[in-house]
Amino acid sequence: MTKILLAVLFLCAGGTASASVDQEKFIDGLIARMTPQEKLGQLQQLDGEADGHARSEHYGLARGGLLGSTLNVRGSTETNKLQQAAMDSRLHIPLLFGFDVIHGYRTIFPVPLGGAASFDPGLVERAAAAAAAESRACGVRWTFSPMVDIARDPRWGRIVEGAGEDPYLGSVMAAAQVRGYQGGDYSRGSRIAACAKHWAAYGAAEAGRDYNTAEVSERTLRDVYFPPFKTAAEAGAATFMSAFADLNGTPGTANSWLIRDVLKGEWGFDGFVVSDYTSVAELINHGIAADGAGAARAAIAAGVDMEMVSRLYAGNAAALLAKGLIAPAQLDEAVRRVLRIKLRAGLFEDPFTPAGGEKDVLLKPEFLDLSRLLAERSFVLLKNERGTLPVGRTVKRILVAGALAGDKAAALGPWSGDGSASDAVSILEGLSARAAEKGIMIDYVRGAGPKADLSDDISAAASAAAGADLVIAVVGEDPSYMNGEAASRADLSLSGRQQELLRALAASGKPLAVLLMSGRPLDMNWADANAGALLQLWFPGTMAGKAAGAAVFGDVSPGGKLPVSWPRSVGQIPVYYNHKNGGRPVDPANPENRYASRYIDLPNSPLYPFGYGLTYSSFTLTGLELSRSTVTVSGKIEASALLSNKGAVRADEVVQLYVRQLSAGVTRPVRELKAFKRVTLEPGASQRVSLEVPLPALGFHGTDMKYRVEPGEFTLWLGTSSEGGLEGRFYAIP
Ligand code: GLC
Repeated sequence: MTKILLAVLFLCAGGTASASVDQEKFIDGLIARMTPQEKLGQLQQLDGEADGHARSEHYGLARGGLLGSTLNVRGSTETNKLQQAAMDSRLHIPLLFGFDVIHGYRTIFPVPLGGAASFDPGLVERAAAAAAAESRACGVRWTFSPMVDIARDPRWGRIVEGAGEDPYLGSVMAAAQVRGYQGGDYSRGSRIAACAKHWAAYGAAEAGRDYNTAEVSERTLRDVYFPPFKTAAEAGAATFMSAFADLNGTPGTANSWLIRDVLKGEWGFDGFVVSDYTSVAELINHGIAADGAGAARAAIAAGVDMEMVSRLYAGNAAALLAKGLIAPAQLDEAVRRVLRIKLRAGLFEDPFTPAGGEKDVLLKPEFLDLSRLLAERSFVLLKNERGTLPVGRTVKRILVAGALAGDKAAALGPWSGDGSASDAVSILEGLSARAAEKGIMIDYVRGAGPKADLSDDISAAASAAAGADLVIAVVGEDPSYMNGEAASRADLSLSGRQQELLRALAASGKPLAVLLMSGRPLDMNWADANAGALLQLWFPGTMAGKAAGAAVFGDVSPGGKLPVSWPRSVGQIPVYYNHKNGGRPVDPANPENRYASRYIDLPNSPLYPFGYGLTYSSFTLTGLELSRSTVTVSGKIEASALLSNKGAVRADEVVQLYVRQLSAGVTRPVRELKAFKRVTLEPGASQRVSLEVPLPALGFHGTDMKYRVEPGEFTLWLGTSSEGGLEGRFYAIP
């Protein structure tokens, strides 16, 4: 009977439940029939086994309508089995299967920081869509991605999961990922619901130590940390995830201002907020709750709709209701939001997954090609002198050294979903294959890896270098424990005996190209001074070796740009390009002036600036033209310049537009990225590149915390990094 009733209700709700008014009526009807326990069931997410299996208790809970969602349960067979249990429940409310699809499900793409380095949002969107297709085929209907935390501190291991330090780049990449995962309608085809995380300012952890306290002014929150989240919400992100950390005295998971006032109030977000993993229970550790009941009450009051893994809602909400410590309306609102997203995700219409559909979708050739392409476009060439790269015609023998060269698992990076190292092409495999096609010999000596090991053999590497025409050293981090969550580092030097390896290789006197596989900027001062080339690979994903082979042998030119400033020293952190000027800035005309904001033992500048990256060619940017010299605050301005490829190879350049408001009611950054375009030019070709900025995008939150664009004088740069560039001026007028 109830199935028919549900179907009738459903049909009454406009059949496809696509009309939101009908959806709400459908939800009203469901809520009216739910018991308090069933309501709490919808707010409970539990963790499956790491291998994707559900736990035995999940079946009973699902059949009783006491489970709303799982994380990590995956695979069409496994999800269908557990879903059937939910569909057998009294109200047949389907489960929402979530999983951390952060940069790919089975086909692994470059880590998000690498994706951001591509400055190619269209490609990032396509990668997210491919990840969604693989996820959907495996029964996963919700990813805990994109991670959109602004990160200015490379000590923080999770910097790898986001788009770096810039609000504009972060916003563009956030929207691209949400569109990729969800498409226009995530109930359809191969789309899944997204989750913008971690709300908010999780990346501002003091000392770069994960889970640590963050103290951030409201203006910096609104002008720096919020924009990628707001863009994700505007792009239709189905869900948000509350942050673990204490932000200005209130943990994200108990922060009513963040969730109810800003997200759901100011921004009108109508999806649901899931806690982070046991972050509700952790409110006790924070000292914001004395016990489980207090923690449940605080999180519900703050607007956290679904509890991930801890069970304090289920265990305490009934008593809290009875005591009037939470209101029935709060509970119903949370249930409504969860049901709304389940409806939008098509779960009521289509709760199951085609059995065995994985085999037709996982590792599709077009997904692997996409992964290779994004990897190639994510690489950032930080140094290249004396034509070290690409491999020259005279090179007949190459030595590849470094444990990471052959490490397939490392190539996938952290948070690698259901990616399998056996699918991956290692850097060494890729280099060897390409070398073989060119008749070049490749030797490999492990030398040293991220962890000092008895098999380290620096001298073997050094002597092998003597016989090579080119030495390629692959060094960096082991992402299995050095990147991602709970992986903060106080020391950013190359770990193990890798630095010793580089010195020994360089001592051979042979040209040395360093390929860095890392999830953050590391201390590469020595390589910058001594290696012939330095190429940042990030963690390139399943097709790492293919992409590295193409870049090293010059089939493609690296064209990525840094999404984060690259410190010279940990002592500079936080160092970021969009900093304030201060009252005693260093005067370039008098850099030795003691009484300026500077170090006595290091320049203020990073080793490599945000937006920086070389290519195998050389570009010029000339002839800046501004569409207007005065613009109303509601208008827009266009800047253009002539980009020319003066080199001998086809290459990309990323033209970037920065602005600075010279004087305003509050201090403004010395530069802010407001537009960019990645352009491919054949050797000898030129193209006038034009970028447009709407003046409303140049605003900030004033002393009254209201967003505004203030009239005044602006400097505008068109350049190829956050330093230098063609400079112009314009005036914003009322
Ligand atoms: C983790 C992470 C979060 C992730 C969640 C589920 O602790 O903080 O980013 O999505 O738990 O795995």
